[in-house]
Amino acid sequence: MASHYTIILIFSVSIAATASTLLSDGLKNDLFPEILRDVAVARLYELGKVSDADGYLERTFLSPASIRAGNLIRTWMEDAGLTTWMDGLGNVHGRIQPPNASKKALLLGSHLDTVVDAGMFDGALGIISAISALKVLNVTGRSRNLKHPVEVIAFCDEEGVRFQSTFLGSAAIAGVLPVSTLQIPDKSGLTVQNVLRENLIDTTEENLSQLKYDADSVLGYVEVHIEQGPVLESVGLPLAVVKGIAGQTRIKLTVRGSQGHAGTVPMSMRQDPMVAAAELIVSLESLCKRPQDYISSNGPDGQCNAFSIKSLSGSLVCTVGEISTWPSASNVIPGQVTFTIDIRTIDDIGREAIIYELSNQMDTICDRRSVSCIMERKHDANAVSCDAGLNSQLKSAAYAAIKRMTGEDIGDVPVLMSGAGHDAMAMSHLTKVGSLIRLLS
Ligand SMILES: *[C@@H]1O[C@H](CO)[C@@H](O)[C@H](O)[C@H]1NC(C)=O
Ligand SMILES: *[C@@H]1O[C@H](CO)[C@@H](O)[C@H](O)[C@H]1NC(C)=O
Ligand SMILES: *[C@@H]1O[C@H](CO)[C@@H](O)[C@H](O)[C@H]1NC(C)=O
Repeated sequence: MASHYTIILIFSVSIAATASTLLSDGLKNDLFPEILRDVAVARLYELGKVSDADGYLERTFLSPASIRAGNLIRTWMEDAGLTTWMDGLGNVHGRIQPPNASKKALLLGSHLDTVVDAGMFDGALGIISAISALKVLNVTGRSRNLKHPVEVIAFCDEEGVRFQSTFLGSAAIAGVLPVSTLQIPDKSGLTVQNVLRENLIDTTEENLSQLKYDADSVLGYVEVHIEQGPVLESVGLPLAVVKGIAGQTRIKLTVRGSQGHAGTVPMSMRQDPMVAAAELIVSLESLCKRPQDYISSNGPDGQCNAFSIKSLSGSLVCTVGEISTWPSASNVIPGQVTFTIDIRTIDDIGREAIIYELSNQMDTICDRRSVSCIMERKHDANAVSCDAGLNSQLKSAAYAAIKRMTGEDIGDVPVLMSGAGHDAMAMSHLTKVGSLIRLLS
């Protein structure tokens, strides 16, 4: 528990310091432990209890718990001196306006929805840290001297649990959400628009397109997030600055063979899609562990250069997370096996090269096994680079905060790639983004 406190404190101080070096004079000596540590941690636990389920955390887009969470966050925003509102999609906003309101705004935020059986820090940490940092500016009177507006946004839907569509909240603000999203149904047949109406938010396609912020009115977007991975712990440091967010491709691969009786079809006469799928999955693992063995730096159509081989090797991760077979019976050779592939890397050209190589390997394996294989690309998102200027401010703020707190000189704050997509990905279509990630253990 003590380490939670310390890290949250460092984290919020970093935001406060970043906001104030960007926007006014820096925080000097006080670490405001009551606001940035005690109250912030208590709020994390309080928000962690706002759930639609008994015994675990679940807060999907516009569920009763997510509305309660939004209202709670609003009261915290108001307590920090922010002017608040909920927009036509359910995003909760809180803003401090400097005397000259026409300046560009710094946006801070994260998401208030959760996956099913979620951890309580995902999303919540970014929102609560940002509000806590602005509360410090309020109580010290610094918000009066802000040079730019600062706005915290608690995004309504990042996880996409309910409508299978991610980043609804931030995509709307960034202006990259198709208005047809309003008609997407959930499992019970209710559309996004129906659910909004149930919550007394009457949103039309026109309203939705008006949620887009004008790029000229925005200075940048900064998001703080837990790491959701093991790297920081392995290097023994509490937080890192994010260099970029990996691009991603999701593939559905269908293998069709010849369905048959497990007892009567001899091994030599089988066209078994299950073993073909197994071989494909294992070869995918080899490809993604050592891409440099498979992809040359001057490939046939020059699709990959030496730089992308290096960044590929350092960042490529591939996962088969879902598999289904037909007819799925213990005494039947399956007729069809379908599985998903999730490929992520910071290098977009390298990702294409991997998919090209994967497709060649698939043809070879499926030909040899006399099964038919079809690869469908379901989702593609390019990598996002974080802004060097915002990042260097975050780095020096984090460095200074750790030094002030612990007296320790940690040297350089690490810079990592983020393999998980966050609202910053959608916001990068609107403005430059910066991000800090932190260890929670
Ligand atoms: C702090 O917030 C309160 C509202 O909660 C507001 O009345 C006050 O003016 C704010 N102080 C500063 C310095 O902005
Ligand atoms: C949508 O736009 C209409 C017309 O401008 C307005 O009356 C209504 O309040 C808007 N709805 C929302 C949720 O903003
Ligand atoms: C307010 O900010 C705008 C944009 O930066 C600037 O053009 C304008 O001169 C400022 N107004 C005042 C009164 O400082």
